[in-house]
Amino acid sequence: MKSRNLPSYTVAFSAAICVVCAVLVSSAAVSLREKQTANAELDRKRNVLRAAGMMREDEVLPREEVEQRFGAFQMVAVDLRTGEEDADFDPTGYDPRRAQLDPTSSLPMPRNDAQIMRVPYHALAYKMLNEEGKLELLVLPIEGKGLWSTMYGFVALGPDLRTIRGLAYYQHGETPGLGGEVDNPRWKALWPGREAYNDEGEPVIEVIRGAAGPVEADPHRVDGLSGATITARGVTAMLRFWLGEQGFGRFIDRLRKEDGNARTT
Ligand SMILES: Cc1cc2nc3c(=O)[nH]c(=O)nc-3n(C[C@H](O)[C@H](O)[C@H](O)COP(=O)(O)O)c2cc1C
Repeated sequence: MKSRNLPSYTVAFSAAICVVCAVLVSSAAVSLREKQTANAELDRKRNVLRAAGMMREDEVLPREEVEQRFGAFQMVAVDLRTGEEDADFDPTGYDPRRAQLDPTSSLPMPRNDAQIMRVPYHALAYKMLNEEGKLELLVLPIEGKGLWSTMYGFVALGPDLRTIRGLAYYQHGETPGLGGEVDNPRWKALWPGREAYNDEGEPVIEVIRGAAGPVEADPHRVDGLSGATITARGVTAMLRFWLGEQGFGRFIDRLRKEDGNARTT
């Protein structure tokens, strides 16, 4: 019997193939990690720009152009316990999602409609100031449960800190064509100009079932997603949560009081 036909040869050959493949896969994973992190970072910037209306949905921009447009923003670390900006906090390499899972860097939340269990002590917000140093745009991260998944996105507020400039989701696992329509540019185009807060300063924005009126007549409501009422409710809940007291509410209040930032334009 030739040695190649022996069972021990087959086992040794398979084991050798397994080892070679394992080494190849793990070295690819390690060597690509840095690139993946850089791409994830670039993607985050693209989505901040999309929410802010500074990049069209169909626009494909090279890295340099994204960096250049994103350069208009200041990233600030917000202490969600106080609503203060924390200038001493170094956001380099900070991952709010990881911090949120760690009980030493996050706060437990009472039961809420967005099904947020904990919020990180520090969240990252993006401010754009005009030449006089006044706030022009504020972009905030939002997240909350849809039907199948946690959806992650950004909402942009104008200088009055109540008018929505845009909404963009960059990660979710909702069904394409149903809940996945949160990504649909036509649906997202319904958001700019809607008002997140009522006159008492409560976040009242709502995705309704059916069609909402035009922005001027129906500023607090947005068209529903047909066949995806649960995802749509998730969008309402997460916006109310993050724009409310337990999310960025105190930070937004502070910005409003700060040197007359709550302009009505
Ligand atoms: C395969 C499948 C996928 C679905 N995906 C979603 C979804 O992503 N988001 C959602 O809210 N509802 C989804 N639904 C529908 C929900 O189960 C539920 O029927 C719906 O949210 C009710 O909304 P409606 O009152 O607008 O019909 C899905 C249903 C099926 C059968």
